[in-house]
Amino acid sequence: MEIVITADAEAAAEAAAGAIERLVVKHPNAVLGLATGSSPLPTYRRLIAAHREGRLSFASVRAFLLDEYVGLPADHPESYRAFIQREFTDHVDLPSDRLQGPDGSGSDAELRTAADRYEASITEAGGIDLQLLGIGRDGHIGFNEPTSSLGSRTRLKTLTETTRVDNARFFDDDVDAVPRHVLTQGIGTILDARHLLLVATGASKAEPVARAVEGPLTAMVPASALQLHPRATVVIDKKAAAKLIHANYYRHAYAHKPEWQRF
Ligand code: GLP
Repeated sequence: MEIVITADAEAAAEAAAGAIERLVVKHPNAVLGLATGSSPLPTYRRLIAAHREGRLSFASVRAFLLDEYVGLPADHPESYRAFIQREFTDHVDLPSDRLQGPDGSGSDAELRTAADRYEASITEAGGIDLQLLGIGRDGHIGFNEPTSSLGSRTRLKTLTETTRVDNARFFDDDVDAVPRHVLTQGIGTILDARHLLLVATGASKAEPVARAVEGPLTAMVPASALQLHPRATVVIDKKAAAKLIHANYYRHAYAHKPEWQRF
């Protein structure tokens, strides 16, 4: 795992957007995994700017969402599809039919089919080249809450109350409006991506980041599954790095990283 500690959230976004930009320039038909939440927003803003400056085209990219709420009407502004369109893809040249997310609109039986179909779509696209990730306060990735199987695939999950309270800010602070159920890529699905890029900033992420990076591999901290991945990059600002025991080593390793190894 590579840990990149930056001065602040903007520098973290610069590092993350740089990695995505380099990938898409090199492989214009790259398959991206997109995350929602507030952590990746500055990264998306930089990608939009790079597109507007003519440096970056997403015309041949395919993009897959990590997760989706169950039961929100298709046009609900807080569905993750609507969120990612509003915050990112509507502002670049990614054709809307090249953006896919799990379909959380059906009945119970349909949700299972939707989950299997989603896995098949990712496989048919050749797998995800780079999966952007955030981390929840309880260590979740996507919507894989603690105790999610480390081998799980896209499926229905029930949110913890912590996550519902955290996400109420997107629903006018009305926790009752936050769906209880979601479809999420499983941890096994996420681990299949060729490069994992987790971005976390701010003091509230210090604890989950430390547990994920330096704690034991455990289903109680789904993000600790990154320890299993051969190419996982964790980009964090100083505040999110505050509880890392080996922060100085990560800084030292990054400062002396050979040029050929740059992500
Ligand atoms: C949600 C998303 C996750 C995200 C997490 C953290 O639960 N499903 O993908 O990582 O929120 O969000 P934020 O970045 O807003 O702290």
